[in-house]
Amino acid sequence: MSLAISHLARRFGATEVLRGIELEVPQGELIALLGPSGSGKTTLLRIIAGLDWPDAGRLSFDGTDWLAKSAAERRIGFVFQHYALFPHMTMRDNIAFGLTVLPRAERPGKTQIAAVVDGLLQFLQIGGLADRYPAELSGGQRQRVALGRAMATQPRVLLLDEPFGALDAQVRRDLRRWLRGVHDSAGTTTIFVTHDQEEAFELADRVVVMNGGIIEQIGHPDQIYDHPATPFVARFLGLTVELPVTMHTGRACAAGLDLTGLPRRAIADGAATLFLRPADIRPVPEATAPFHVTEIASTGALLRIVAQDAAGCRIESEVPRRDGRDLAVGQAVSLRAAAGQIFPTGAPIGAVPAETPYTLKEARP
Ligand SMILES: Nc1ncnc2c1ncn2[C@@H]1O[C@H](COP(=O)(O)OP(=O)(O)OP(=O)(O)O)[C@@H](O)[C@H]1O
Ligand SMILES: [Mg+2]
Repeated sequence: MSLAISHLARRFGATEVLRGIELEVPQGELIALLGPSGSGKTTLLRIIAGLDWPDAGRLSFDGTDWLAKSAAERRIGFVFQHYALFPHMTMRDNIAFGLTVLPRAERPGKTQIAAVVDGLLQFLQIGGLADRYPAELSGGQRQRVALGRAMATQPRVLLLDEPFGALDAQVRRDLRRWLRGVHDSAGTTTIFVTHDQEEAFELADRVVVMNGGIIEQIGHPDQIYDHPATPFVARFLGLTVELPVTMHTGRACAAGLDLTGLPRRAIADGAATLFLRPADIRPVPEATAPFHVTEIASTGALLRIVAQDAAGCRIESEVPRRDGRDLAVGQAVSLRAAAGQIFPTGAPIGAVPAETPYTLKEARP
């Protein structure tokens, strides 16, 4: 049983909001759609839910064409960023709502509905909230109830659109662990939208990185973190230092940089661009090196160190404070890279054509 999406496209006026989306989500998987604002995450989710329709492409579940089915027939649970609970109903009634509006033939009896709701309240560990109204709950509690309401009809697929987006960081962290537990015990297929990288990586079995209506990369979180497939993904995941290098027999070289720690890559000899995370760059004192430390700032646990060469190339690194004690402003340093990603110069920047409605600068997190 799986959800299969192929060649999916959606246009609003002249803007192509989804282009050639290919995605297969097996039963029981928790997948995160990660991408900047405007990348098409909500549009894709709404199409899966049956709240919107594509201009082209296919969407099927377990071999059945879902584009021929209404939202109700698809049996989907949906949770939105902003709590959409009914304010005049208790939590118990909110959770029961989906069951009470089922067509008469499918609708369970009153006692059966009460039993389902009690079961969910226990399962989601919100039993104590059953008789309260939404206004009497915290944001995090409301989102737990919203998930209960989405799960009451035993949906085959749960779609969550930034469900924790309006909550503070600690509550988000708690809820995301809770959600992972709920997902695992319930065995549903879950698609979770977020633009928070940490949230996607901690929660998901696989992460789908979207940008400008296309999928840039699909993979296990570690795979995406360690091997971003495009310059866009690299930047989005914090490889914000970009340096021109020269490739020679698969090895990247640049004056003042020690790149021997990077694996060889099958990139043709010549110009390329190296993408690095500041935390993967280590300044090492070396009297004859072309870089000089120009700034050292402490963020508590880390030192942010800026080094510059005579040509004005400015590289920011981050080192644990205790490892940077022997560094001082003015000192000559070489820069050792522990990890990085190389793309041939001139490679398309994340395959975003010029006419996309926002620039990459805005698209950065
Ligand atoms: N009904 C609509 N009419 C016209 N344009 C739309 C409509 N819905 C979405 N769009 C446009 O489609 C693009 C993608 O929107 P979408 O809501 O899918 O992005 P998103 O990735 O969910 O962004 P966010 O992270 O801000 O929620 C945006 O440029 C948006 O303005
Ligand atoms: Mg959205």
